[in-house]
Amino acid sequence: MSDKQLNATNIIIFGATGDLAKRKLFPAFYNLFLDGRLPEQFNIVALGRSEYENQNFRNYVKTHLEEFSRNKVTEEDWGHFESHITYFRHQLNEEPSYSALDAKLDELDKAFGVRGNRLFYLSIGPDFVSVISNHIKTTALASDSDKDRIIIEKPFGHDKKSAIELNQLLSQTFEEKQIYRIDHYLGKETVQNILAFRFGNSVFEPLWNQQYIESVQITVAEEVGVESRGSFYEKTGALRDMVQNHLLQILCMVAMEPPASLEADEIRNRKVDVLKAIRRIPADKVSHYAVRGQYGKGVINGKEQKGYREEEEIAPDSNTETFVAAKFYMDNERWQNVPFYLRTGKKMAEKQSYIVVQFKPLPHSTFSDANPLKANRLIINIQPLMDIRLQFMTKKQGVSMELRPVEMIFDYFACKEDTPEAYETLLQDALEGDLTLFMRSDQVEEAWDVVTTIQENWENHKAESFPNYEAGSWGPKESFELVERQGHSWV
Ligand code: BG6
Repeated sequence: MSDKQLNATNIIIFGATGDLAKRKLFPAFYNLFLDGRLPEQFNIVALGRSEYENQNFRNYVKTHLEEFSRNKVTEEDWGHFESHITYFRHQLNEEPSYSALDAKLDELDKAFGVRGNRLFYLSIGPDFVSVISNHIKTTALASDSDKDRIIIEKPFGHDKKSAIELNQLLSQTFEEKQIYRIDHYLGKETVQNILAFRFGNSVFEPLWNQQYIESVQITVAEEVGVESRGSFYEKTGALRDMVQNHLLQILCMVAMEPPASLEADEIRNRKVDVLKAIRRIPADKVSHYAVRGQYGKGVINGKEQKGYREEEEIAPDSNTETFVAAKFYMDNERWQNVPFYLRTGKKMAEKQSYIVVQFKPLPHSTFSDANPLKANRLIINIQPLMDIRLQFMTKKQGVSMELRPVEMIFDYFACKEDTPEAYETLLQDALEGDLTLFMRSDQVEEAWDVVTTIQENWENHKAESFPNYEAGSWGPKESFELVERQGHSWV
């Protein structure tokens, strides 16, 4: 984030009456506005099918800001902000809607006194990306490749083939530098800090390789289920919803080589190197490397939970996975033979996302058997805890030489700095034209390639054991076996 002077901008949100817009996008724009990080001249043009009077839509936004904004909504701030919101009724499939939008944007530009930048945000399901992109092309809505940008939500396509097709289609309307494929995990403060931590210190990087590291674990556990997104989730599942994007991107941050600079393409190249180095799981060995799960009934925080198959819009014999655990290896000098364990699931015991870097044990202990040594471990807590912990052995106070493991903790909350939401960071980057935290076309395609055999195997073989974990647990027993086979255990 810099303090660049930003050009006048029209931000056009497709799907402005949807869930993401009310929970994340409007709160992010509002907080950026409060921090003086939006352009001096800007409009948010909210597109939706529903009939809204402008003022009614503004009131709708305000109600949700009161619920979801990081900063308080005061009458004075809101008064300034709301004047920038314009609701515009729009039909995604109809060409005249786009011509009308073009005329509206021209009118708003006139008030700016210049042709403003245009930032299109596609907060809609993946099935609509192509139709919108085609209409933007035919109506020349994004005709200035230096000023116009498009942000596309994940999942980008639903497999490698469709992602390639989508990339080709988008390239007919946009240059790659205009396309911002968003993965909000990359905007999280704790995820971005991995770069600072690894490459801003001299003590960790020399140990960051197969010589010293035994294994790496990445866990993204959620307490929530599918909420009101049943029809989307039923077609998507945890592999596509979380692993192909969020978890693999975190893996890239942990495993990448030091970039020569912070240039967007330099960093993205290093991440693509990681994805390319991940050993593909052979089609006939999927069950050895990957485990799927689906939650049944259970209890979380003392409250009874429905099973996945009882949720709204879910088939009673659904084959969709709500949990994934997988083991990956990388074929490169740094990571040869180091297992990377990834796991994510819905309706787990707790919301916890963290990375565990497990160091190798000492080859020989100087201490007696009464003092078993615990190998060093670095834990990066992503959320809701936000900290970095280094676990090491120390002497217990006293006359004898007794050892015990302790933790040294860097805690974000202790810094008293207000942490911006991931979407604030990413939206500001998009306004500034900084692509570093967004996915390039080859990154998305490689990430799909990594999960292809798993995806195909699971689609073609129904999971007879579903549901195979209780809501409120840590997933199916096969997930534990996956790591135990190697003498490891989930932290
Ligand atoms: C989204 C997924 O990308 O990430 C959701 O579609 C998931 O299913 C969400 O719940 C998790 O995000 P966060 O920021 O709450 O960890």
